[in-house]
Amino acid sequence: MRAVTVVPLQKDSVDLTELREPPESDGPVLVQTRAVGVCGTDLEIISGEYGWAPPGEDRLAIGHESLGQVLEAPDGAGVAPGDLVVAIVRRPDPVPCPNCAIGEWDMCRNGRYTEWGIKEHHGYARERYRITPDFLVKVDAALGNLGVLLEPTTVVAKAWDHIERIGRRSEWKPQTVLVTGAGPIGLLAALLGVQRGLEVHVLDQVTEGLKPDLVSALGAHYHHGAVADIGVEPDVVIECTGVGPLIFDVMDHAGANGIVCLTGVSSGGRDISVDVGMLNRRLVLENDVVFGSVNANRRHYEAGAEALAGADQQWLGRLISRSVPLDRWHEAYTRQPTDVKVVLQFDEGAPA
Ligand code: BGC
Repeated sequence: MRAVTVVPLQKDSVDLTELREPPESDGPVLVQTRAVGVCGTDLEIISGEYGWAPPGEDRLAIGHESLGQVLEAPDGAGVAPGDLVVAIVRRPDPVPCPNCAIGEWDMCRNGRYTEWGIKEHHGYARERYRITPDFLVKVDAALGNLGVLLEPTTVVAKAWDHIERIGRRSEWKPQTVLVTGAGPIGLLAALLGVQRGLEVHVLDQVTEGLKPDLVSALGAHYHHGAVADIGVEPDVVIECTGVGPLIFDVMDHAGANGIVCLTGVSSGGRDISVDVGMLNRRLVLENDVVFGSVNANRRHYEAGAEALAGADQQWLGRLISRSVPLDRWHEAYTRQPTDVKVVLQFDEGAPA
């Protein structure tokens, strides 16, 4: 079968290659891939900065934002042939650590987890895969192709889950949220903020086009320029760019008892000068919390599926700014300035 594969850590080794059929040992459920979303992590893997092949193999099939259709499933699997499904990215470490032992692999303590399409296991940018049903999440058939947005939604569902847990350390009635970055993660974080009835502000660099339109269509406020010019001291900040100076800027502008959640992965290699003493003083005197958030567990997939089902489907459809058929696969991995979410379509006959 065909798969988009790379030799990890080897720049530009990405190609559409033949890959053996998925082994039975991967699980009893056989899924046909319909679409995979492309994200920054895929581009990092393609540029040779990240990624691990399965043990004993040279190439890794990439793709971790999946949407598929069940082809075969044993009785009692909880999914049946024809069901639309999304596969979970991370698998618990084999030890397992205390978090993996209770299904919180997103909080793995020893780093020995695997991530399908990223770390030591083939991903979903291949025509078929096998899996155990406990790592599959059924999506509402009404969502159709929009189900491919589930994995990025789980990332922000986890961020919101943890923000709310931290908020419960005291009386907490948040009103305003600042999201930095209007890419798919930022826009989905904003969607979940609006769904919580909060006043949502989104900051990005672009001045026009799809991103500001999508923010306004949510009923949120779009800004470009400096954080200081927004004129709010947000109760919550969800930082989705990983841009160093912006990270310090949002820490500096969060309101009292502010919670700043960092979701963007920075590339490093850039020095900036920061007055750590002043920053510490502000964080301490205002009870601020700054924390990082990555990946998602099953609970977040379920929350994400609920958030997508409750969202305006037309709005979600606009988030997918480009759908690329498999035979033009390389176009999906070439960034264009107007991109929001790009999807590689394995099944062209699928309803949009
Ligand atoms: C994925 C996460 C993963 C992370 C680090 C992200 O792009 O959405 O599931 O944990 O990369 O590998």
